[in-house]
Amino acid sequence: MLKISRIARRFASTKKAEVLVIGGGPGGYIAAIKSAQLGMNTVCVEGRGALGGTCLNVGCIPSKSLLNNSQIYHTIKHDSASRGIVGTENVAIDFPKLMEAKEKCVKGLTGGVEMLFKKNKVDYVKGWASFVDPHKVTVKGLDGNDVEIEADNIIVATGSEVTPFPGIEIDEERIVSSTGILSLKEIPKRLTIIGGGIIGLEMASVYSRLGSEVTVVEFQPAIGAGMDDEVAKTIQKLLTKQGLKFKLSTKVISGKRNGDVVDIEVEDAKSGKTEQIESDVLLVAVGRRPYTKGLNYEAAGLEADNKGRLVIDSEFKTKHPHIRVIGDVTFGPMLAHKAEEEGVAAAEYIKHGHGHVNYNNIPSVMYSHPEVAWVGQNEKQLKEQGIKYKVGKFPFIANSRAKCNQETDGFVKFLADAETQRILGVHIIGPNAGEMIAEAGLALEYGASTEDIARVCHAHPTLSEAFKEAALATFDKPLNF
Ligand code: FAD
Ligand code: NAI
Repeated sequence: MLKISRIARRFASTKKAEVLVIGGGPGGYIAAIKSAQLGMNTVCVEGRGALGGTCLNVGCIPSKSLLNNSQIYHTIKHDSASRGIVGTENVAIDFPKLMEAKEKCVKGLTGGVEMLFKKNKVDYVKGWASFVDPHKVTVKGLDGNDVEIEADNIIVATGSEVTPFPGIEIDEERIVSSTGILSLKEIPKRLTIIGGGIIGLEMASVYSRLGSEVTVVEFQPAIGAGMDDEVAKTIQKLLTKQGLKFKLSTKVISGKRNGDVVDIEVEDAKSGKTEQIESDVLLVAVGRRPYTKGLNYEAAGLEADNKGRLVIDSEFKTKHPHIRVIGDVTFGPMLAHKAEEEGVAAAEYIKHGHGHVNYNNIPSVMYSHPEVAWVGQNEKQLKEQGIKYKVGKFPFIANSRAKCNQETDGFVKFLADAETQRILGVHIIGPNAGEMIAEAGLALEYGASTEDIARVCHAHPTLSEAFKEAALATFDKPLNF
């Protein structure tokens, strides 16, 4: 067998491309589609056997399926009697079916990207790419055949992987990463999570709704990695009310599997006091790091910084102008929509010599319940820069639609320039915050003032009226509060 596959590999085929994209995640697949749409002969290489990258396969999409369906279950079980819906006492979770629904969603979407490749005539090569020189890669094909690809332009979009926790061995059964937690076989009675960032809090929400006792251990004194302080405190209070336990300013010393349980030792950062936690599952969610394994980027003369990010200029160019790098494997927030924007811009730079991504206007959303969403600057950042600003806030308790929906937790908060009322940042905690933040993004992009927003007619009764009222509150009295 070995002999045959060696022979097969020796007779590698060669392809030529105007644009070669390495990686088929949100950065890479969008870059490939856009390049093809701009009329360039495009090849995209992806090694995992499915398109869509981390996001579609083991990230955004499966996590949102579990978040959505666990929330529906939770609402039916615990929040229906006050809505006049009775007879829900025996509602239960069919966990394998919940996972099946997630898989169906993933398969549908990854297959959809493959169809988009066909429609746009992107040549999809299944295998792992490795640089030979600045214009050539070899691909170890998943079917055993090697392919050599020579390209005029190359876009590297190889993404990121889970950051390991020194000394804690992930087995994806009892000690899991974000990948393992999305495919557990049963609901753990006790779940401990290292890291109160976005992955930690989203997964804490899923399993707490399904009945797990969840403890989040966070090294920093606050949760929510990068959220506005007031928003982070508010969401922590709400999640605590939902049953989550938080251990902040707490260091994890060790975590070891012991049969069917995991023994974890933590230490209070201030007092140095240690504590033992026994858990059925431990999730390690302390961030992600750039992924370049096997890429052999050194052969193309590319460089990485001390965090493993491939070094580029403001046009995504490496020291070879025909090789560009986008998405999680380089600088900036590790977000799917940021990678996609860069994918479009990289293709446009190649074709037209110009492209654009506004890094001051990349929204963030945490899909907890209620959701948290923000764009632009937070109060701490404005203070650090000495920028004078005004705050306008409006609570959902005073919004008619939120009242009808019995979803009144949270608020919209605008930060506007003290003199010009130009919008500097918007922070929302509340129902559908992730959808509402798009209006803030549009306003920010057009350099709108809070008065511009307040003078736009918003439909009644909608949650977005809270958005309008919060804008109004930066320079005048809100009308409904
Ligand atoms: P990736 O999606 O990582 O894709 C890179 C691809 O390149 C991979 O498929 C990999 O197999 C392939 N590859 C790597 N090396 C090679 C090689 N040498 N040859 C061929 N192929 C190669 N972001 C959001 O915006 N919203 C969310 O809700 C969200 N939820 C998330 C939830 C979880 C649990 C996780 C882990 C992440 C989440 N993210 C979310 C982050 C998001 O998934 C990433 O920011 C995004 O996928 C980055 O896209 P990318 O194209 O840069 O890289
Ligand atoms: P993160 O950077 O958001 O959070 C990691 C958290 O772990 C931080 O709060 C950090 O202080 C904490 N931490 C680090 N070391 C620790 C230690 N030793 N002990 C205790 N706590 C420690 O990273 P996360 O949650 O792993 O997510 C990775 C990436 O995926 C993020 O960049 C995020 O943007 C992206 N993502 C986005 C989502 C979304 O947009 N909804 C959902 C999930 C992930």
